[in-house]
Amino acid sequence: MRVSGKWATPDSIITPAPKSACLRSTAACGCDDLVIVSHKVVRNKHNIAAFCNNPCLIRPLGSGHAFPSFRSTAMSKHTLSVVDNRTGASYEIPIVEGAVRAMDLRQIKAGPDDFGLMTYDPGLTNTASTRSAITYIDGDQGILRYRGYPIEQLAAQSTYLETAYLIVFGQLPTAEQLTKWEQDISRHTLLHTNIQNLIATFRYNAHPMSVFISAIASLSTLYPDARKVTDPTNRRLQVERMIAKVATIAAFTYRHNQGWPFYYPDDSLSYIGNFLKMMFRMTESTYEPDPVLERALNVLFILHADHEQNCGTNAMRVIGSSQADPYSAMAGAAAALYGPLHGAANEAVLRMLEEIGTPENVPAFIERVKKGEGERLMGFGHRIYKNYDPRCRIIKATAEEVFKVTGHNKLLDVALELERIALQDDYFVSRKLYPNVDFYSGLIYRAMKLPASMFTVMFAVPRTCGWVAHWLELLTDSEQKISRPRQIYTGPDVREYLPMGERQIAS
Ligand code: CMC
Repeated sequence: MRVSGKWATPDSIITPAPKSACLRSTAACGCDDLVIVSHKVVRNKHNIAAFCNNPCLIRPLGSGHAFPSFRSTAMSKHTLSVVDNRTGASYEIPIVEGAVRAMDLRQIKAGPDDFGLMTYDPGLTNTASTRSAITYIDGDQGILRYRGYPIEQLAAQSTYLETAYLIVFGQLPTAEQLTKWEQDISRHTLLHTNIQNLIATFRYNAHPMSVFISAIASLSTLYPDARKVTDPTNRRLQVERMIAKVATIAAFTYRHNQGWPFYYPDDSLSYIGNFLKMMFRMTESTYEPDPVLERALNVLFILHADHEQNCGTNAMRVIGSSQADPYSAMAGAAAALYGPLHGAANEAVLRMLEEIGTPENVPAFIERVKKGEGERLMGFGHRIYKNYDPRCRIIKATAEEVFKVTGHNKLLDVALELERIALQDDYFVSRKLYPNVDFYSGLIYRAMKLPASMFTVMFAVPRTCGWVAHWLELLTDSEQKISRPRQIYTGPDVREYLPMGERQIAS
């Protein structure tokens, strides 16, 4: 591989100071003549970014979600030349941060009455709906960072509330800021008795996520001031309320499901310790959370805190873009999370493991998945990760710690066998399907004796800080507008209304 600087134009952004690790690179187009553009970016003469094999350093440009600063080289203009073969007209469209602006396509018209070119992207698989400074994911390398901090470091060293502060405000707190933040949150943990009564009115066997979503939505009835979304002080108050109250709502939802009386918050405990107490305290006069379970839940909460523009967060942003109050927006986000392709996959994983029963049954199950005869292999695959989900690796290690305290769960053997066989099978390998965050998390919740129906609630509680961070970012982003996509109309052309007697059954 030849490396030179001849195509690069050094300037204040470009720092030609590569580490040798950066040079272990291959370019996407297969051309080995590489230009060192910065410490992290290497481009070849076709201006196709290469990336370093060392995952701590680099990701491919133009394929993902955040882009290192980069200025044009002499050889490459950062534009896209488009020829419209309907008219022969050509256009030059700017490329900024690895993206073209969809509105720049509107100028491309087949004639004066043409609306202009749109993009068609079901599921928004290749559309950046926002610029965001919160979470960075490199799905090819299996990297996840909150505000620049690797998830592995946060999981090992941080607490959920500290990470929540980081996600919401962009910086790790000082000791003083953290103490105030913890106090502010614990001040809001109590639930109004109306919400408590609302939870109690649901049938004992109502799905906890349905109860949770309803309770979150109903918070807007108690806090009508939350509608003042343009007031920063007011927004901060709602953020504290939301992060505080979701834990109490989740615990009360669980206790109602179990038929147990509610226990009120205890502000002498940590956020996680208090949550465990509200969930699991029975008749003890004093309740001490098990330190291993408290630590495990802390790790799980950190890992679930945010995941950039996933379905639930997108729902939060879409609803928030109409300036609805944040409780209504969050109820929508939680509802999106409730789907089995999203946050309810953890529940589906446990049911799948129970159905498989023993490791010996795994090969037959895998064959059914491959033939499309049953459900998918739940807890596998991801829109963004085409590598091992970094959260899954941490959860797997955490599960082993938890089982040392709670005893071995035979479903872990089934899960390990599923992972082993799937990762050797061409069906999963060729589609880059790896275990995701939901594959092992349910086993930890089960070890805590939670029913599978509670698992998605356990996902929603920590995801709240991610939802509110995106809501705040949206409201302070001058480029954002009410979310209102276009469509390609495929229905009938104009037709006359027919009186009842003249209608025929449509075939
Ligand atoms: N089992 C079997 N086949 C799968 C799976 C799976 N879990 N996931 C994807 N595939 C196949 C799919 O059939 C398709 O094959 P083909 O190209 O032959 O049609 C191919 O892989 C691509 O799948 P896709 O549905 O186009 O991929 P997507 O990016 O739209 O979907 C996903 C991503 C997460 C919805 C999907 O992988 C899935 O359904 N996984 C199972 C549910 C799950 O575990 N969800 C949790 C996601 S992580 C937590 C979260 O953020 O919510």
